[in-house]
Amino acid sequence: MDYNFSASFWRKRAVKAALDRRDDNRTWCGFRFRKFPSDGIAMQELLCRCRPQVLVELGTQYGGSTLFFSSFAAQAGIETIVTADIVALERPDVPIATFLTGDDTSPEIFAQIKELVGDRTCSVVIDSDHRAEHVDKELELYAPLVTPGQALIMEDTHVDVLDFKKFRENGGPLRSIQKYMPKHPEFELTTDIEPYITSNFFGYWVKKSS
Ligand SMILES: C[S@@+](CC[C@H](N)C(=O)[O-])C[C@H]1O[C@@H](n2cnc3c(N)ncnc32)[C@H](O)[C@@H]1O
Repeated sequence: MDYNFSASFWRKRAVKAALDRRDDNRTWCGFRFRKFPSDGIAMQELLCRCRPQVLVELGTQYGGSTLFFSSFAAQAGIETIVTADIVALERPDVPIATFLTGDDTSPEIFAQIKELVGDRTCSVVIDSDHRAEHVDKELELYAPLVTPGQALIMEDTHVDVLDFKKFRENGGPLRSIQKYMPKHPEFELTTDIEPYITSNFFGYWVKKSS
């Protein structure tokens, strides 16, 4: 597959302006939620379409995103959320969520997540350490957990698109996507989910059904 991973100048300006306003750092029911509202809506749309039994979230942070996912779980058919973060923080009470602490690329955390997913349908949201070296490992481990017809959402690819200094040399999530996806044609980039104001450029993928 040959994808065109470029974004227009004016769109990049608009996203940069939204980031400067800290529009990607809001709260959901009182808990910090580190996404653009438009990306939240996009995720809700995609997950309601895919209807995973299990949602795996890599990068829990304050848990606002976990609480957000749980708030439409019934409508999206989500039975369980498994969320992992290397740092243990105070988190909201989310009855359907299991909070794990540890490096999401460690064998221990991966084994626990795989076990909790079992043979159920599974979508994955990747939002932890954004360095390409780490995201490469996450893709190798977790993209195979995504079952046919389910979503793989890669967050914060804007660090590459907007050429953030910290990621300039070794790359961020988009560099990993550019490396992984051409070798994995079982994944398809969605064409109708990504919002104009997004931190997840080229981040909304679905594994083909057959
Ligand atoms: C961008 S924040 C997650 C934001 C959250 N998903 C939200 O939308 O509100 C990234 C999180 O990844 C965690 N993290 C960094 N390296 C990690 C690793 N190796 N394994 C798991 N989590 C990690 C950080 O501790 C941080 O809480």
